[in-house]
Amino acid sequence: MRGSRAGATRLPVQLQVLRTGRNEARRPATLAKDRIAKGEPPRDAIIVGDCIDELARLPEACVDFVFADPPYNLQLEGALSRPDQSVVDAVDDDWDKFADFGVYDSFTRAWLAGARRAMKPDATIVVIGSYHNIFRVGAILQDLGFWILNDIVWRKANPMPNFRGRRFTNAHETMIWAARSAEAKGYTFNYEALKAGNEDTQARSDWFLPICTGAERLKDANGRKAHPTQKPEALLQRLLVAATNAGDLVLDPFFGSGTTGAAARRLRRHFIGLERDAGYAAAARARIDAVEAFAPEAVATAPTRRSEPRVPFLSVVEAGLVKPGETLHDGAGRHRAMARVDGALTLGPAIGSIHKIGALAQGLPACNGWTFWHVERAGKLVCIDDFRAVMRAAMREAAE
Ligand SMILES: C[S@@+](CC[C@H](N)C(=O)[O-])C[C@H]1O[C@@H](n2cnc3c(N)ncnc32)[C@H](O)[C@@H]1O
Repeated sequence: MRGSRAGATRLPVQLQVLRTGRNEARRPATLAKDRIAKGEPPRDAIIVGDCIDELARLPEACVDFVFADPPYNLQLEGALSRPDQSVVDAVDDDWDKFADFGVYDSFTRAWLAGARRAMKPDATIVVIGSYHNIFRVGAILQDLGFWILNDIVWRKANPMPNFRGRRFTNAHETMIWAARSAEAKGYTFNYEALKAGNEDTQARSDWFLPICTGAERLKDANGRKAHPTQKPEALLQRLLVAATNAGDLVLDPFFGSGTTGAAARRLRRHFIGLERDAGYAAAARARIDAVEAFAPEAVATAPTRRSEPRVPFLSVVEAGLVKPGETLHDGAGRHRAMARVDGALTLGPAIGSIHKIGALAQGLPACNGWTFWHVERAGKLVCIDDFRAVMRAAMREAAE
């Protein structure tokens, strides 16, 4: 048994979404259905229906990433009011109601199994939740064979206060990031790009972002929130930048106001959104249609060091960028070695690679010789890694 279905359609927006079941004669529906019939995943489609049924219709192993913001199962006890007696606009919708934890767990198991089936072997999933549900979700993820990679804490810059003053302010949500299995290899994590964007410091698992307010918040015709739990687009953008590449297909089984689709479109990813409330789906479609994608060059995945072609130091010497017999220094001017014609370095009686000699000079077990050694050019020290970059650019140009 699942939580009872939300009743009223909320928004008077013209439907342009894929409807399954009745009323499915529209063109986007046909296109998406044709693709599914051919065993291909739909692209940039919003499918109105129950996600457990719709996940089973998708081709197996077709998506690169899943973001899921499932019902929280908030278990609210009566209306909540502020000290001035105004009523708090809490999540009390039918879609968030489950008879008990057992019903919620069966629902969670079913949709997570469906999402896992739709994931490519190297795809990953992020599920967001609060203390009401995330621990149950985490245990079920592990039971189903997912492999947890991180839990990320989204610390809210502007959380709702605790009006009753009986608990701490609930100021964060937790996102669990998991691979399809412990054996999954080659999942996307744009480590170097994230580090570069974080002033060359490793990206951390605690994120500080505001909740969705102001102009970003979708409103209905009466100026009320169109969706009670619209997530900030910045959160989705960061996730997509971290765990997907341009052109990837992203699945969101609880599409709501379409935040995942809006972020996907902006970042030139594709999406499939599943949502059982036709009003939310229509609002999402209108929202996404108005999104302008960033320039392709701005969202293209930066080449990682590992994906770059290997350049031996010998090639740098052969290209005349470092001359045999030339002195190499470390950045602080404490250590010196000499370049040999065969691409090795000498330090006293020792001969070895740029890495070995760098490690020997410092008395360390390992060293990245590319970033350690420098040569003097026009009175300044230039890192030999710059010469490697020159060689790589020439290789790329030759390959084009
Ligand atoms: C927490 S909200 C997601 C909000 C979304 N991330 C956003 O930014 O707008 C959960 C959504 O899932 C939908 N939903 C709940 N149960 C569903 C089901 N079984 N199948 C499809 N959609 C469902 C609800 O209608 C609701 O819009």
